[in-house]
Amino acid sequence: MPHRRRRAKLEPGAATSPADRVRRRYAQLAGEGAAARLPRGFERLGRVLVVRLPEEMRPDFPVLGRLYQEEIGVTTVLRHAGPVEGEWRLPRREVIAGGATETTVVAHGCRWTFDAAQILFARGNTLERARIGAEVRPDEHVADLFAGIGYFTIPAARAHPTVQVVAVEANPVSFEYLRRNVRANHVVGQVTALAGDNRRVDLPRGTFDRVLLGLLPSSLPWVGRAVELLRPTGGILHVHLLRGTREAPAETTERVRRPLEGAGARGIALALRDVKPYGPGRVHSVIDARVRPPA
Ligand SMILES: C[S@@+](CC[C@H](N)C(=O)[O-])C[C@H]1O[C@@H](n2cnc3c(N)ncnc32)[C@H](O)[C@@H]1O
Repeated sequence: MPHRRRRAKLEPGAATSPADRVRRRYAQLAGEGAAARLPRGFERLGRVLVVRLPEEMRPDFPVLGRLYQEEIGVTTVLRHAGPVEGEWRLPRREVIAGGATETTVVAHGCRWTFDAAQILFARGNTLERARIGAEVRPDEHVADLFAGIGYFTIPAARAHPTVQVVAVEANPVSFEYLRRNVRANHVVGQVTALAGDNRRVDLPRGTFDRVLLGLLPSSLPWVGRAVELLRPTGGILHVHLLRGTREAPAETTERVRRPLEGAGARGIALALRDVKPYGPGRVHSVIDARVRPPA
């Protein structure tokens, strides 16, 4: 059970957002200067909270963890301790309050369970996950080459009971959650989950209507692999990448056009959309590429 204490009554006109209440209570303990260094935001993932606390606040992590726990009403508080690492996109996180790190996020009719200490779940991708669910048409065959815990696989499969998804995931921890999420979302008969590296997993060429390439910082190296999976009549690739905020949209689409042409794709039509800000000066974008594979 989460540990909750009665909250102190707020003064009239006092700050009322949970983050403000944490700041105010911390200021009473550690002073205004220390409280001003607290991050403005945090990420709530179900019953787990992720905060980016600076290392120099370490002596106060236990007290801060408790304040976040009480004011936000979460079971566990994790500190995001460094950049997301490697091709498996592993976050570095440490528990500063509570214990259980497994959590469930529910959005637009889908639910994803995962261990927030080991697995990334970007709140900023929520609209893109919903969009994929809205774009997928009945009877489609979809390949999700970076399936993770089913970020896109679940909304794609739930779009319509006649949709089939082949979901590939290399990280065994994520793969187990993918299987669990497929069951929990009642799409077992629609999803074929394959464990392993998508460069080596055997996938049926020329059979898919849509291929999801949800890897950052860039899924461009996989564009050729994706083109060969599309039906001869063509289909859509969703190519995720980071771009500079100063990079013109035409420059970004050009970066996608080149590998598509290199793979012999025909009838290329590209549309760029921004998913979320990604650190200073960068944006997470996705390019929808409507193409036909080589004849
Ligand atoms: C973190 S996810 C992307 C996030 C997701 N698009 C979202 O909406 O939040 C990327 C996943 O691709 C997996 N992955 C990376 N390289 C892979 C590869 N070569 N083959 C299969 N899976 C891979 C990682 O393990 C990870 O689970």
